[in-house]
Amino acid sequence: MTKQCRDEQPNQKSYTRQAATYDWTEKIYRLFGFREEAYRRAAIEALDLQAGDTVIDLGCGTGKNFAPLLEKIGRTGILIGVDLTAAMLEQAQEKIDENDWQNVTLVHADVADYQFPDQFPPDGILSTFALGFSADYAQVIERSAAALAEKSGTLAVADMRWSDKLPRWLMRIGTKFAAPFGVSETSLKRDLMGEIGRNFPQTEQTLHYFNTVFVAVGTKN
Ligand SMILES: C[S@@+](CC[C@H](N)C(=O)[O-])C[C@H]1O[C@@H](n2cnc3c(N)ncnc32)[C@H](O)[C@@H]1O
Repeated sequence: MTKQCRDEQPNQKSYTRQAATYDWTEKIYRLFGFREEAYRRAAIEALDLQAGDTVIDLGCGTGKNFAPLLEKIGRTGILIGVDLTAAMLEQAQEKIDENDWQNVTLVHADVADYQFPDQFPPDGILSTFALGFSADYAQVIERSAAALAEKSGTLAVADMRWSDKLPRWLMRIGTKFAAPFGVSETSLKRDLMGEIGRNFPQTEQTLHYFNTVFVAVGTKN
């Protein structure tokens, strides 16, 4: 694992605590009709990856996206997972070891500091339920667009957002409920969709779960 990490971020502690149980929480969300797996899949499909491609997963966590990404890029592709929380990356490393994935590299870094590798220009960049946590999301999206320019690649982001479709009181309760995951009114109000629109000539956006989830896709061609 490569390390490019600086200071501890506010939500790093909560992800250190829940790293070992993180993969199970999806089952609880499903009881409330929240289809995390479907939003994740929609973002991965939108990348339109081919065998041999290079893909970077920003805020990869425990590596829940790795198996579906590797289905697309095969053994000849390159997958790089970047995350701030060492404990989440340890879970990801376990998946890598269990499955004997030889073409996955983990980078311990804040997405704001992560340097996209010049020697492996990405075909796709993915971030699911992670980029909204970064106050530096705008520069990360801008740098992602620059990194994708060489291969006319695609950025796909699935994340939570503040919904005007629901009453404010309900959004506030929901936000409190999700606070242990680092979710806040500030993180939900970050304009990731707008920023993707500003940096990519072609964009597509879909809203889900009472407009509290979006999948935004930007393409560089
Ligand atoms: C809700 S989890 C999502 C993990 C994974 N993408 C998934 O879909 O299951 C959020 C992840 O974002 C990571 N994260 C939060 N802020 C980050 C940052 N500034 N840079 C890198 N990773 C960050 C956390 O450590 C955590 O692993």
